[in-house]
Amino acid sequence: MCGIVGYAGARPAIPVLLGALKDLEYRGYDSAGIAVLDPTGAGLRITKRQGKIVNLETALDGTAGQATTGIGHTRWATHGKPSDQNAHPHVSCNGEAVVIHNGIVENYAELRAELVAAGHTFRSETDTETIAHLLEDRLKDGDGLLEALRRVAPRLEGSQALVAMAESEPGAMVAARLGNAGGVVIGYGNQEMILASDLAAVLPFTQEVAFLADQQLVRLDRSGASFITVDGTPVELPRKRIPIDPVSALKGEYQHFMLKEVMEQPEALSDTIWSLGTLDPAELYLDDLGDARDQLATVERVMLIGMGTSLHAAMLGQRYIEALAGVPAETDNASEFRYRDPVIGPGTLVISVSQSGETVDVLEAMNVARAKGALQITICNTEGAQTTRVADGTVYTRAGLERGVASTKCFTASVAALYVLALGMGLARGKLSREELQHHMNDLARLPEAVARTLRDAPVCEREAQRFKTAGHILFLGRGLAFPAAMEGALKMKEISYIHAEGYAAGEMKHGPIALIDADFPTIAIATRHALRAKIVSNIEQVQARGGTVLAIVTEGDGQIAALADSAITIPEVPELLEPIVASIPLQLLSYYAAVQRGCDVDQPRNLAKTVTVE
Ligand code: G6P
Repeated sequence: MCGIVGYAGARPAIPVLLGALKDLEYRGYDSAGIAVLDPTGAGLRITKRQGKIVNLETALDGTAGQATTGIGHTRWATHGKPSDQNAHPHVSCNGEAVVIHNGIVENYAELRAELVAAGHTFRSETDTETIAHLLEDRLKDGDGLLEALRRVAPRLEGSQALVAMAESEPGAMVAARLGNAGGVVIGYGNQEMILASDLAAVLPFTQEVAFLADQQLVRLDRSGASFITVDGTPVELPRKRIPIDPVSALKGEYQHFMLKEVMEQPEALSDTIWSLGTLDPAELYLDDLGDARDQLATVERVMLIGMGTSLHAAMLGQRYIEALAGVPAETDNASEFRYRDPVIGPGTLVISVSQSGETVDVLEAMNVARAKGALQITICNTEGAQTTRVADGTVYTRAGLERGVASTKCFTASVAALYVLALGMGLARGKLSREELQHHMNDLARLPEAVARTLRDAPVCEREAQRFKTAGHILFLGRGLAFPAAMEGALKMKEISYIHAEGYAAGEMKHGPIALIDADFPTIAIATRHALRAKIVSNIEQVQARGGTVLAIVTEGDGQIAALADSAITIPEVPELLEPIVASIPLQLLSYYAAVQRGCDVDQPRNLAKTVTVE
């Protein structure tokens, strides 16, 4: 959620930190700040502002300054409203220790009371400020900065990722990862080091990185980094070279990252599918599953978990696993799963879907699954992310960096990856023959082109969006495999256009939503040529009989539904199991254009974050 950056090198730190913070803007934030440490003895300089990074830039007035070490932060408010005072960094009473933080100090109220009683003065309403004061006490007692942070760490309840500097240690900073409040990536440059909450801010500097693990701390200066665990044991962290082209992170010809990412889906699907298997002869690699692959044949049931868009991908994965592997499968929201004492054990395969691999509820749900002895596979778009380190095996999607807060290419890539995983399970269990696998790989091979053809109709979606842009509410209907697609269509619409939208299983419509239908309450129905098409025709008629209008997503050549609905968008015919992927494309475009036409901030919708690392 919050974005964290740190720099120690030879360049002026302020422009470096501002650039890195901009690379993290996509995470969503309400204020931003930096602290730099001047080696000439001028001490700490802290600047922070509510609102966008441009406000911070204005406050800094174009000064690069002398300082070559500093930290920066974009805040997403949890304790205390968005304001200049509550923005990070936070400093201790004597100005010695400065901190930025992602996560929640759950016992902050007690700590604050204790610190106030001991004479500390608080300047903000945040939980984070307690850390600065605790560090000050340790530094006063003679600890070095790393030791001070190590001794403060056990006092903080909850999950945290935090970075600190001290005036007494110019040129250096320390960081800790305690639990699952977001990652800390350390980037190795040439006589310069960078640190950030995610790769997006590191890759423009270097592809040589290390990931801090839970309960680890780092101290870095321009010449390198050293690591210890919370109990004080020195550790070596392996360095990885990340094969991501930073140029792909640019918007290119598109007005918004979201549109760029929607348009990238044919390539994202193709890269994902062909990183997991081949067409001729049909083979599945699934190399990153490791030993988990051997157990695909024997698991008794599957539980899929995720949040937001990834939960909708998981719902489709459930259908694939049942249809292609014949294994009982269920889906649950990770934030529910983690607290409901789920009845699972060694015979259960838990599949988590998380494009970032950092979502706190998913990680905590995975910890529950691990404690109960379940086998775990994660579907992830981020090399080396936390979920991949917890799971027994990973199926990577190859969608490239996704910056729009509203997930698009990662959604369809996750669905395709789940399809391949279901094929792998089906093959391992003898439910699918080699011939059937070949048949399915042929289907997958045609999928990117079907998506590309659908994308060529973007102008139709732009026109149709005009009809919805003034709506107060929209109902999305689908049956069978189209139900998760309807849920996802509604989520996209509300996320970026702020139009209230609900996704419903069409069969449920008569049990409530139909009461809302009138001329001002339009419906979008996924009415493709699937087995339940006749049923959705009835639903369309029922909406129209109550004065409602219907936009139908129909299969090419289906003149009957196109004529029945008030308007229609066509998609190419693909095998039924793959239809939700193609049907999602016009739904993404409709919400995108509706949001643009309503003047919304498409890439950074209000109140939302790309990666949710706090509960
Ligand atoms: C946030 C984002 C969504 C995303 C969800 C899960 O809500 O705004 O776009 O689907 O988190 O994220 P994950 O990284 O776990 O897929």
